[in-house]
Amino acid sequence: MDQTQAKSRIEKLSKQLNEHNYRYYVLDSPTISDFEFDVLLKELESLEKQFPEFASDDSPTQRVGGQITKKFNTVKHKYPMLSLGNTYSIEELQNFDSRIRKKINQEFDYVCELKFDGVAIGLTYKNGRLVQAVTRGDGIQGDEVAGNVKTIRSIPLRIYADNLPDEFEVRAEIIMPHKSFIRLNEDKQKNNEPLFANPRNAASGSLKLQDSSLVAKRNLDCYVYGIMGNNLPFQSHFENLEKAKQWGFKVADLTRKCSNIQEVMNFIEEVETLRSNLPYDIDGIVIKVNDYSQQEQLGYTSKFPRWAISYKYKAEQGVTRLLDVTYQVGRTGAVTPVAILEPVLVAGTTVKRASLYNADKMDELDLHYYDTVLVEKGGEIIPKIVEVNTGLRQVNSKKILFATHCPECNTILIRNEGEAVHYCPNSETCPPQIQGKIEHFISRRAMNIEGLGEGRVEVLIQNALIRNMADLYDLKYDQLLGLEKVVTDEITGKQKKISFREKTVNNILNAINTSRDIPFERVLYALGIRHLGETGAKKLARHFGNIDKIRNSNFEELIAVPEIGERIAGSIIDYFDDEQNGEIVNRLVEAGLNFKAETVLQEEPGNLPLEGKSFVVSGVFEGYSRNQIKDLIEQKGGKNVSSLSSKTDFLLAGDKMGPEKKKKAEELNIPIITEEDFNKMIE
Ligand code: IVH
Repeated sequence: MDQTQAKSRIEKLSKQLNEHNYRYYVLDSPTISDFEFDVLLKELESLEKQFPEFASDDSPTQRVGGQITKKFNTVKHKYPMLSLGNTYSIEELQNFDSRIRKKINQEFDYVCELKFDGVAIGLTYKNGRLVQAVTRGDGIQGDEVAGNVKTIRSIPLRIYADNLPDEFEVRAEIIMPHKSFIRLNEDKQKNNEPLFANPRNAASGSLKLQDSSLVAKRNLDCYVYGIMGNNLPFQSHFENLEKAKQWGFKVADLTRKCSNIQEVMNFIEEVETLRSNLPYDIDGIVIKVNDYSQQEQLGYTSKFPRWAISYKYKAEQGVTRLLDVTYQVGRTGAVTPVAILEPVLVAGTTVKRASLYNADKMDELDLHYYDTVLVEKGGEIIPKIVEVNTGLRQVNSKKILFATHCPECNTILIRNEGEAVHYCPNSETCPPQIQGKIEHFISRRAMNIEGLGEGRVEVLIQNALIRNMADLYDLKYDQLLGLEKVVTDEITGKQKKISFREKTVNNILNAINTSRDIPFERVLYALGIRHLGETGAKKLARHFGNIDKIRNSNFEELIAVPEIGERIAGSIIDYFDDEQNGEIVNRLVEAGLNFKAETVLQEEPGNLPLEGKSFVVSGVFEGYSRNQIKDLIEQKGGKNVSSLSSKTDFLLAGDKMGPEKKKKAEELNIPIITEEDFNKMIE
């Protein structure tokens, strides 16, 4: 094939693939099979390899990602990204309508749209090609994330249409459909990684991933709700949205033009009944005046357009009775209370359990046995109790007190001063702690022992084949073959059978064997030393070079390592002070794991936002417990110190901070920052 032929074939294939992509992801009615699609895509890939001069940025081959972005560029929005005024009441909606009618004084239409619960994005197209994708940020400027956005298959990379404006911007919401969200969290659970609380957080987290090929696997979707530009086809919103649909964008079918507020209210009611069956989260309806010149006439307040409002649905709630409180014990021994409820139907699903978070939350609700409670299903996985109807409380019903002993091993629970969480201190023999530690050890980012996920560790513990991570290296084929158990999946509630067949057993033993090649820094992380995350483990491994040096270091030597603060240092010392841990490490050394770093560096330039900064944390915070905020400081490269000195960089002040701390910080000229300032620093 010569150059001219290649060029024209590449163009033809791109066009065909774009068309099929649109049919599959936007129209949901493909005309070719996945196999046929892959054949065309493979042909295009190979031609682009052969003739890279014709491989364009908007080729369908870009959908699989591959671009790595260390830091996203900040870009100013051409048109500011505003937010909307909210209302929960029909009365306020009527007031909104009266204000508009008074001001416009002529016929007008409304457009009702779904209020998608995801992440806002501005997509700029020039000459039919997607050239920029910017997140909302602060509304004035946001992050340029086009590399990640290109992997979302319902977003056209190239538009083939007549009379397309030279340049325009599409405003849209990137969402994670329920199906993708459940799959992602199942995957995270298998790998012992923290779960996303709701699809919105998952969508937002995905867009910020540095590796776009991972974003491609997240199955995000995108719905358009606005177009801006100079030469738009129509002077009204609804008609432009219809045009956008023809250009290949996804616009929700549940979008309606209404000629009065009654029709708007009918739409609101109609969607409320459909809401629980939608494949993604919405939290309300957005109502907009259709005509652009009327929008202009209405103008803006300091924050919102006067021509639009969002009507938010109330969170889905149900009334039921509290039967009991049980406790879950996590890998680190943290004990979380869970309410057991009389099953109640809330928005189409049966709710049997609710989060209670911690002892303070339980106290705040003042829960008594058999209380009548109001449960709410927000965007979170597990519903929560929002109210107790004390009027219906049974006479003599007893207050529910927080457990005093571990429900798993009966050890007395402890609660450190200033912390909200109770702990079971028996990290050595408490079953969920043993299981959690081993699950962390085998997880993908640690020793990556595939095949042992999905509840298999539990089966091995129950059969007394393993008690700690070192036992994994003594497992034999005959011990594993034929083991089985039926378990219930925590997220989906489905039952499944876990069995150890020949192939699985071989995979497990192979993965255990190859884990001996995992680099030292990951082995160190895999040990599960409290507070020691991946970054800290990397720094330690590279600084000290081998396990013995770390084991024999004292507190001062440890905190001299960049990013190792007092908490991590203390916890490393505690870990090695424990004889049993020492023995486990010895056995892992004997089993041939890697306890030596390949590169020994004194310091590695990093790009963490708090790199090299030291913090004193004081007071109570809204979005975090004190420990969560301290962990976050260390994860983001900063250090925690316990008292203020001239070397401290910031005093992070929560509510109820003591006046002496404030005075001392002022004397030493140390900036006092709020939780909000802190959130901005780590953004
Ligand atoms: S219009 C000036 N329409 O809600 C009007 N926004 O509170 C700007 N959103 O950041 C927004 N669905 O992310 C509009 N159909 C919809 C929407 C929508 C979801 C989000 C959007 C925006 C926020 C505004």
